[in-house]
Amino acid sequence: MDLGLKGRRALVCGASKGLGFACAHALMREEADVILVARKEADLVAAAQRLERGLGRRPEIVAADVTKEQGRQLILDRATDCAVLVNNSAGPPTGNTREFCRQSWLDALEGNMLSAIALTNALLPAMISAKFGRVVNISSVSIKHPQPLLSLSTGARLGLTGYMAGLAREVAADGVTVNSILPGYFLTDRLASTLQAWADRQATPLDAVMTERTQSVPARRFGSPSEFGELCAYLCSAQAGYLTGQHIVLDGGLYPGTF
Ligand SMILES: NC(=O)c1ccc[n+]([C@@H]2O[C@H](COP(=O)([O-])OP(=O)(O)OC[C@H]3O[C@@H](n4cnc5c(N)ncnc54)[C@H](OP(=O)(O)O)[C@@H]3O)[C@@H](O)[C@H]2O)c1
Repeated sequence: MDLGLKGRRALVCGASKGLGFACAHALMREEADVILVARKEADLVAAAQRLERGLGRRPEIVAADVTKEQGRQLILDRATDCAVLVNNSAGPPTGNTREFCRQSWLDALEGNMLSAIALTNALLPAMISAKFGRVVNISSVSIKHPQPLLSLSTGARLGLTGYMAGLAREVAADGVTVNSILPGYFLTDRLASTLQAWADRQATPLDAVMTERTQSVPARRFGSPSEFGELCAYLCSAQAGYLTGQHIVLDGGLYPGTF
């Protein structure tokens, strides 16, 4: 299926590896013109080379920290005309719910809520005047289904969820959709570090934690980042213009609710 993304400019944050990279890959396969953002330039160059080897086209790269005003300015200098924005950055540190200090909360809000709001607001005017825009936020299933050690992540992302839910209704008539994907367990570096933290706290071998988590997923496996990228590309497609304001769980059945 042609997703109608050929030639669309797409800004993908947190894109040198993991879920962001998978989104960039799926968008580039659809012939979107993609800008990859991450902090470490060497990893971005490696990611761009990997994409070029696989798809025959090279993305632009911007080495910048989305959580810093200066980093966002560097990005926006190159990206104000993007029709697609994938918001993503590192998850906050793990830890016991009541151990976090005020500064940890402020950092989490900057990293997983305010930076995405700032980038979205900066790109919206061009999307609205073009009568086409797609915003996809990489969030977490933990906002529906609290997970051990992830309360900083859950709290900050819920703030973003509320903002995006309202925004989606404000810009729907302008051809702009706003959605979030809520991953469960996907095989990335972030998942490895989260499970290692849990194993350390429980004094349990990592293998045992991996097995226990895999068994907790009805699909009995972790997701592959490419499965995540495919959903992102669909949400950005021309066909998905009536799909907005949704927070879509992608977790192999982990979230136990009916809705
Ligand atoms: N994987 C899962 O199972 C899972 C589940 C639920 C939620 N999540 C959330 O989904 C998001 C992506 O996870 P992932 O597993 O793909 O992580 P990952 O494999 O660690 O990749 C994170 C990517 O984001 C970049 N990045 C991190 N902080 C950044 C910043 N401040 N500015 C710009 N780029 C930044 C990293 O590159 P640099 O370090 O070079 O910047 C890297 O490219 C995270 O917020 C994570 O908490 C993941």
